[in-house]
Amino acid sequence: MSKVIVVGSGGREHTIAWRLALSSKVEEVICVPGNGGTANEKKCRNIPLAQSYIKDGENPYAAIAKHEGCDLAVIGPEDPLAEGIADAFWNAGIPCVGPKHDGAQLEASKDLSKEFMAKYSVACAASKTFTEEQAAHDYVESHGAPIVIKADGLAAGKGVVVAATVADAHAAIKDIMVSGRVGDAGKKLVIEDYLEGVEISILAAVSVTPEYTKENKSIIVPFLPARDHKRLCDGAKGPNTGGMGAVTPLDDVTPQVMEQFNKTILEPTLKGLIAENFDYRGFIFFGVMITKNGPKLLEYNVRLGDPETQVVLPMMDFDFADMCQSIVDGTLKDFKFAWKKGYAVAPVAVSGGYPNAYKKGIKITIDAKANEIKNTKIFIAGAIEARRSADKTASIAHPMVTSGGRVLAACSQADSFDEAWSNAYALMKTIHFDGMFYRKDIGLPGAAESGKL
Ligand code: AMP
Ligand code: GLY
Repeated sequence: MSKVIVVGSGGREHTIAWRLALSSKVEEVICVPGNGGTANEKKCRNIPLAQSYIKDGENPYAAIAKHEGCDLAVIGPEDPLAEGIADAFWNAGIPCVGPKHDGAQLEASKDLSKEFMAKYSVACAASKTFTEEQAAHDYVESHGAPIVIKADGLAAGKGVVVAATVADAHAAIKDIMVSGRVGDAGKKLVIEDYLEGVEISILAAVSVTPEYTKENKSIIVPFLPARDHKRLCDGAKGPNTGGMGAVTPLDDVTPQVMEQFNKTILEPTLKGLIAENFDYRGFIFFGVMITKNGPKLLEYNVRLGDPETQVVLPMMDFDFADMCQSIVDGTLKDFKFAWKKGYAVAPVAVSGGYPNAYKKGIKITIDAKANEIKNTKIFIAGAIEARRSADKTASIAHPMVTSGGRVLAACSQADSFDEAWSNAYALMKTIHFDGMFYRKDIGLPGAAESGKL
């Protein structure tokens, strides 16, 4: 392994690129398109998606990887996976960390993923799928509230409504199915029983192919459990966002809970991936509700989580590039996982106004003392270089401006939660941009969404 391409431009992809670049076996990480963080990262180089050498009909990412001589690909987001980017990489002869098209539909269609959960007895909430509006209204009427209304397709986190009342549920059906708020993604609806509990994210490495199964090598290995904080404001209040911060590991996820998760969710999922003959070599993200009846699966994502990646990867006490290699070559079963002691905490700083309209192009400054805070790292999400320099050999870090709603995560890893928490927030205080906003309670008691209406 020498050159790795990372597809994507968010905080998750900056974290992946940083971890890959830490490996002595990786010469260079090509980030397409990357962001201001990867532009400044050692051994990383950003390449824009539009290149004159890409031929019509060719997958542009695979074409760039071939042109650059990459020998491994790691895919960040779900959209290209749902479109079959992993198939394009493998067809171009480049091993790819990310499921092929068929497996990626587990995230792209809620109906299909619920069918998969039912078929393989994965612990989850009961649900029904509807393509007719009236039948959906009738079901809600007979079922009662609370109840959860979900658009079938990918809706960038905007396709789920947890309805506290029957009236809210009717309104959500209209909004998703009829008004077209989430486009074609809402033509089909999944209506699911409401689950009460606390939510966790379990990211995992997956290495499943029919060939590995024959050799008894297909496997899913879970990482440390993590928690996202989706509400904008302290105390889990305010509107939903793409994630305001993350923490790992979780004291409320006991070894018993993990055992139950493995038995009732992970193992049936592995059985299902095998039985469906998927070529699934990549990551899976189990969105899980811990209920009084044990863990229940809310959803599969076919990728790493954002911002969970920004805390889980810094806890890895092994070579991330080696692990990616083991996923694609069928040796994950023998891979030695080891985790750092302690905790990682990462609050996220967002643009003023987010998740509604916000300004872009605002200059970001970082005080020099940021470098003095131990075991911390800023992961950039929505920020780009202020001037895209043609001089790639320039040794000074290029200043950045904001380019998105979620701008960056200030991550710290330490032996104790208190130290990780204090250092992450000390780091955040060294970062400045007009309108900057962040939660002050990531990882603290009362910060997690409780799943109680
Ligand atoms: P999903 O995209 O399916 O994970 O749903 C988005 C969010 O809606 C989840 O992270 C939960 O906070 C909430 N949610 C989804 N399904 C349920 C459910 N059955 N009961 C309670 N909350 C849910
Ligand atoms: N943190 C939630 C997600 O990545 O979907």
